[in-house]
Amino acid sequence: MSRQPLRIAPSILSADFARLGEEVRAIDAGGADYVHVDVMDGHFVPNITIGPLIVAAIRPHTQKVIDCHLMIAPADPYLAAFAQAGADIITVHAEAGPHLHRSLQAIRALGKRAGVAINPATPVSALAHVVDDIDLILIMSVNPGFGGQSFIAESYAKIRQARALIGGRPIDLEVDGGVTAANAGELAAAGADVLVAGTAVFSGNDPSTYAGRIAAIRNAAQTVQV
Ligand code: DX5
Ligand code: ZN
Repeated sequence: MSRQPLRIAPSILSADFARLGEEVRAIDAGGADYVHVDVMDGHFVPNITIGPLIVAAIRPHTQKVIDCHLMIAPADPYLAAFAQAGADIITVHAEAGPHLHRSLQAIRALGKRAGVAINPATPVSALAHVVDDIDLILIMSVNPGFGGQSFIAESYAKIRQARALIGGRPIDLEVDGGVTAANAGELAAAGADVLVAGTAVFSGNDPSTYAGRIAAIRNAAQTVQV
């Protein structure tokens, strides 16, 4: 089974939005692999965050992968705007609309990597018939909408199931919500290879701490990952 290198994706949801460019440059310099962007609409999730304008604004500040997690419904009308803004990965929620396959085709047609996120109550089997249309699976390990929530332990079983579903395909297996250096090892052992971390990287919003925090998560994961 081919395994991709472990990647760390700090979520800018917990960045200081008043100096967002500086925050993005700081995690880039601190060793982030992906820049995770949480897009919320106040409809699919009970919070409102940011849109394509902000993706375009941060794009000049990093060459790293911009990983857009769309917690919006409908998503399809906005896919082109996120692609044009500079997203590299566009992830939609399986629960966000009735035509997941169509959304995935639309993302790939825009030349972007297509991701699917599933909420804590959604089974991995929901992805079985679109797995060849997916470049990234995102297992939500909290209920989407807010940073700083506690990790839901049932997520480990879902990560193992998703790893089995992926098989030898070059699909990222990302986990998002409540990730810390304390659970990174167990997450990697279960099969996750992209770890999203908001609070665990950005709390305190002191850029001098980011490299050490990213390294702590990476080291904890790599200690266990096989
Ligand atoms: C939640 C978002 C997450 C969030 C993670 O809806 O999708 O990316 O920022 O934050 P932490 O790491 O604080 O749980
Ligand atoms: Zn997210």
